[in-house]
Amino acid sequence: MSDNAVQAFCDRKFGMFIHWGLYALPGGRYKGKTMDCIGEWFQSYFRMPNEEYAKFASKFNPVNFNADEWIRKAADAGIKYIVFTTKHHDGFCMYDTKVSDYNIVKMTPFGRDPLRELAEACRKYNVRLGVYYSHHLDWHEPDGGDPGTELGLNCGSMSWGNDWDFPDRSKKDFSRYFYGKVIPQVTELLTNYGEICELWCDCPMNIKPEFSRALRDLVKKLQPDCMINARIGNGCNDFQGLGDNQLLHSKSTLPIESPGTLNNTWGFKYDDHDWKPAAKVIEQLVSLTEKNANYLLNVGPNALGEFTPETDRIFSEIAEWMHGKEDAIFATRPTPFPQELDFAYCTRKGNQLNFFLRKTPSELKLDGILNRVVRADVEFQQNGETVTLKLPNLSGRTLPLISLEFDGEPRIRQELMPQNGTLLLSATSARIVEGKEARNSEGIEVDEAAIVHEVTNHAKIDRDGTLCDWNNPSDTLEWEISFPEGGNYALSAITQTRWKKQPWSGDRSLTLNWNDQTVCVEELLPETNFPSPYFTKKQSPVGVLHVPAGGRGKLVLQSPEIRSEDAGKINLNSIQISRI
Ligand code: GLC
Repeated sequence: MSDNAVQAFCDRKFGMFIHWGLYALPGGRYKGKTMDCIGEWFQSYFRMPNEEYAKFASKFNPVNFNADEWIRKAADAGIKYIVFTTKHHDGFCMYDTKVSDYNIVKMTPFGRDPLRELAEACRKYNVRLGVYYSHHLDWHEPDGGDPGTELGLNCGSMSWGNDWDFPDRSKKDFSRYFYGKVIPQVTELLTNYGEICELWCDCPMNIKPEFSRALRDLVKKLQPDCMINARIGNGCNDFQGLGDNQLLHSKSTLPIESPGTLNNTWGFKYDDHDWKPAAKVIEQLVSLTEKNANYLLNVGPNALGEFTPETDRIFSEIAEWMHGKEDAIFATRPTPFPQELDFAYCTRKGNQLNFFLRKTPSELKLDGILNRVVRADVEFQQNGETVTLKLPNLSGRTLPLISLEFDGEPRIRQELMPQNGTLLLSATSARIVEGKEARNSEGIEVDEAAIVHEVTNHAKIDRDGTLCDWNNPSDTLEWEISFPEGGNYALSAITQTRWKKQPWSGDRSLTLNWNDQTVCVEELLPETNFPSPYFTKKQSPVGVLHVPAGGRGKLVLQSPEIRSEDAGKINLNSIQISRI
């Protein structure tokens, strides 16, 4: 993988995922019942035999499909690449393949190859083409991947493999499917459609390393710069991936992408009306951008080949917002601040810092600024390491942009300090000290507090930067903080549910110490899990911190006492400190 390909991946920032297949036809409805899961899992949800599911093909005639229109809408909104479902878990191929007749060209009245038309439109609008390919699961094939039920069921109810048509797992020969379908089809995809920027594999589950490796070798032989996602399995990827709809809480040092939905499904569903407002989608894009991550935003076109009206509306609102801000998003570098700012997302291009304002007070104060600001979009003053910005009335606008130009590459003090009075402390910026019951990496108990950054048998930091599964009260998180001035600061804890997991159900009290004095022991508010099956946050006030004078100190957070066996575990997103 060349450095250029990795950099090009990072520079793209914004992609459009397209989930389109036969499942768009029923749109989640069957015999008077509506699915309560993601729409592209229709066949597994209703355990529909292949013979019956295949009948959708004879009705699939998306006469309004217009690749040019899809890609133009995407490009207008700033999209730099697409990832199209060439074969989802149902095994039906949405491109012209010689390997299986179970494809859109052979089996549908439509008879066209949408991938070819999309590839052409992508070239026209200077958008890169990527392909989603379900390399493990394939419900159409007797030998398709079937991890059984040991790994649970998807969304709690759906089989991963096709155990309704092919119940006898002992007869399944994954290798026959893999070398008979996956390898030749990925060869077609990477040979017949020009340059492919990403191969997007899915649901690796327990796929054996030899298969992930064989697939990787093939990709690297055919198109060395095609970036492979982490769901290929077994570490054969070129970039990392977040979970569906998962965001980051701190900067990523590795190339990473977050796939996100517009409502709660990937494939079209008639009955999912839970659309995200455009402002939220925009915020997610910018929040990921500043943390060095790409956003792969999904659309689920209907069976006529149309984007839903809500999709169109959201995309045109993004396009409107994006106008004039492209330069502050694409090919930018991540925020130089050591923490997320509560009042802005920040990106850098050359000597310029771009602030997308989450709050619009009349004045903003930045601290720890080590070089000179030479120009700004707004009135500013610089005194020592402090820059004060006077803002015009920007209220009511979605993440308005202001830029500051420096006399060189902007240098920011890499200490944790409040910016404009507020500091967000993430788990990744803490020193994690494991307490008495800690085990070292060999599993031997150690008596004294052992400092480990890679947490062992205690709490762990998830790939999004959340502290998860913390249930050992002798562990602590420590942050070294510099306060530019004394004062009273309100403390709050931001916790969140994790995808498909129950919210934290245990004892909800946290203890925070400031320079060895206990400042608060407070109950946290419960998170809510529904209606969204993804991640929900809750901010709980936990007390007031009195800082007598400017200077450094140490804030120590202790996990709650776990009193009962079945208590849930804390998922801590961050601790917020705000000047009162
Ligand atoms: C999950 C689903 C799959 C979907 C994907 C998108 O893995 O199983 O249907 O395509 O998420 O990220």
